[in-house]
Amino acid sequence: MEFHTPVISTETIDLLNIQEDKVYIDGTLGHGGHTLKILKKGGIVYGIDQDRKNLEIAKNRIKEAGFEDKFFPIYNNFNQLEEIVKKDIKQKIDGLIIDLGLSQNQQTGQGRGFSFNDETSLDMRLDPEKQDLSAEEIINTYNYDELYEIFSKYAQEIYSKPIIFKIIKERQKSPIKTATRLANIIRDFYKERHIRSNIDPSTKIFLSLRIVVNDEFNNLKNVLLQSLKVIRKDGIACIITFHSGEDRIVKQFVRDYSNQKIIIENKKPIKASFQEIKKNPLSRSATLRSYRIV
Ligand SMILES: C[S@@+](CC[C@H](N)C(=O)[O-])C[C@H]1O[C@@H](n2cnc3c(N)ncnc32)[C@H](O)[C@@H]1O
Repeated sequence: MEFHTPVISTETIDLLNIQEDKVYIDGTLGHGGHTLKILKKGGIVYGIDQDRKNLEIAKNRIKEAGFEDKFFPIYNNFNQLEEIVKKDIKQKIDGLIIDLGLSQNQQTGQGRGFSFNDETSLDMRLDPEKQDLSAEEIINTYNYDELYEIFSKYAQEIYSKPIIFKIIKERQKSPIKTATRLANIIRDFYKERHIRSNIDPSTKIFLSLRIVVNDEFNNLKNVLLQSLKVIRKDGIACIITFHSGEDRIVKQFVRDYSNQKIIIENKKPIKASFQEIKKNPLSRSATLRSYRIV
């Protein structure tokens, strides 16, 4: 299978300054791309993911690469970081990676509801075992005000109002059960109004649904705060975000705690190099910020 390509990984691993037998947490294990680089440098990794399938993929990949002795997979949400460290690690950690967003198989696969081309699902839950609320439920049961709150707050979609009217009209005909149907409803609205867009017109609405379904902003705020407690003095955290809403949270956190509890490692956020973007266009929107615990 094709594994997810980790972004800004050279810079991330350099910043973490991996040392033999030091303990690192990869809070977003995915397919283990970042984790494997830490393992190859001799670090011990606890890899957290709330997607059981990805956890399995990473476990097998790391076993095949011969590093399973120093790797500990954990099925959980990274918003439980403090609890995980207390229960499973029992000591402060030397470094933390959070690489937000979705892995390529989650983004493009059928049956998850994240892709505009998913003709079978509008789910969007990263962990269907533990999460109740799906995007399908939001789209089919939320009233105008509730949808407006989501689309305007998290997507800053200026056409939220007419798009919601169209969604409500469509769902009265029959429930909207697939990502493709929702994407087409939004695309049709743009076409009918002759509105041009450089990106797929449904991008922003899809992002806002994903953020709400998976409580992404609260998870991020929580893990940042908990990182202050679980990383040892001089340990490093590297946080990779993929859109301005996430980056704003990290930037604010870093500003709030700078020089009291943390020191910023890279004054200017790190972006993917031209060469990396050429090889992996998905890295274009990635931003890496990093801090050291004092
Ligand atoms: C961009 S991928 C990480 C890719 C990884 N760095 C690699 O090299 O393969 C993000 C991963 O984090 C997981 N994830 C997202 N939010 C999470 C959360 N709150 N808790 C645990 N895992 C999460 C997703 O399921 C996905 O597998």
